[in-house]
Amino acid sequence: MGETFQSVLVTGGCGFIGSHFVELMLSQYPNMLITNVDALTYAAHPDTPARLSAVGGGRYEFLQKNINDVSLGADLDRRGVDVVVNFAAETHVDRSILEPHIFLETNVVGLQNLLTLCRKRNLRLVQVSTDEVYGSLEPSDKPFTEQSPLSPNSPYAAAKASADLIAFAAQRTYKQDVVITRCSNNFGPGQFPEKLLPLLIANASEGLPIPVYGDGKQVRDWIYVTDHCAAVDRVMCDGKSGEAYNISAYGEQKNIDLIKRVLDIMNKPHSLIQFVGDRPAHDRRYALENKKIGQELGWSPKFSFDEGLAKTVAWYRSNEAWLKKVRGQDYQKYYKANYDSKMKQTERAV
Ligand code: DAU
Repeated sequence: MGETFQSVLVTGGCGFIGSHFVELMLSQYPNMLITNVDALTYAAHPDTPARLSAVGGGRYEFLQKNINDVSLGADLDRRGVDVVVNFAAETHVDRSILEPHIFLETNVVGLQNLLTLCRKRNLRLVQVSTDEVYGSLEPSDKPFTEQSPLSPNSPYAAAKASADLIAFAAQRTYKQDVVITRCSNNFGPGQFPEKLLPLLIANASEGLPIPVYGDGKQVRDWIYVTDHCAAVDRVMCDGKSGEAYNISAYGEQKNIDLIKRVLDIMNKPHSLIQFVGDRPAHDRRYALENKKIGQELGWSPKFSFDEGLAKTVAWYRSNEAWLKKVRGQDYQKYYKANYDSKMKQTERAV
């Protein structure tokens, strides 16, 4: 298990999923050194470095650096790192439509820098990818497996698919130890409120409209964030080099159904729902087969969709100050002044 490794370097450990993974490593492996590298871009909460530092004590170190930074090599040596887990990424599809460049810099060139650093030191690299690399399913299609062809539709998904190909090319060319995880949509505490679920909770709390893209019948396959992190741990420890592992909890939901359920849990009216212009090239449905990681590595999700959703809504409701701080006190003003034009701008971007 985790004792396979004594010193783990996590990139993007101040982001939503990465910070849950750092916490899992710290609590699960009491002797493990953890180095958290994060550039602290907009999606990282400013309090996260201090919070994780308080949990990790002396075996934890935070470095504010970009994954493109070659000086990370010296950090790998100094900390005696034996595995790198790459969560660092630009992740938001809408932003990738407006500003694709930064997605290539971080998600592709950054990954190449990590590959080069790991190759020189003979280190395992775990590349945290996404189900979006497979593209979109029709309602009657079977879920994606690891054999499904890569067919990304957004600049974000194309950058992640490129990184997957580059990582596997390095594994074949240099015999590097590389494994890839591809997970479905995550939810849970601490997600930046540009993503559907925290945005919906935050807007409903403030009595703001909930923007629903297109007809709202797109399907996403939801998994509770700590289940994802436990799966990445299994792949880090025992995943076979050169392989990809899908991670999902069979939590398919139509966006509109999810939105209505959350409004019901919060006792907010459905009249807050506001249909807006669709996201360009919007993937209709994601659904992911998780048999391989179950059979080969013995992982299965702990939380049902309902349990995860109840925990998630409860967390945001008792952390409204966090939500406000993360998205800025002026959000109401911003929303009212810019939301419609933001949607139009997104449509124009294609
Ligand atoms: O599938 C995994 C992926 O899930 C990750 O790789 C991405 O990094 C992550 O951003 C997420 O991508 P999605 O595009 O599925 O997540 P998002 O929260 O942006 O949107 C979820 C669904 O809700 C999608 O169909 C678009 C829709 N949506 C989203 C927002 C923000 C709305 O209808 N209204 C909204 O305001």
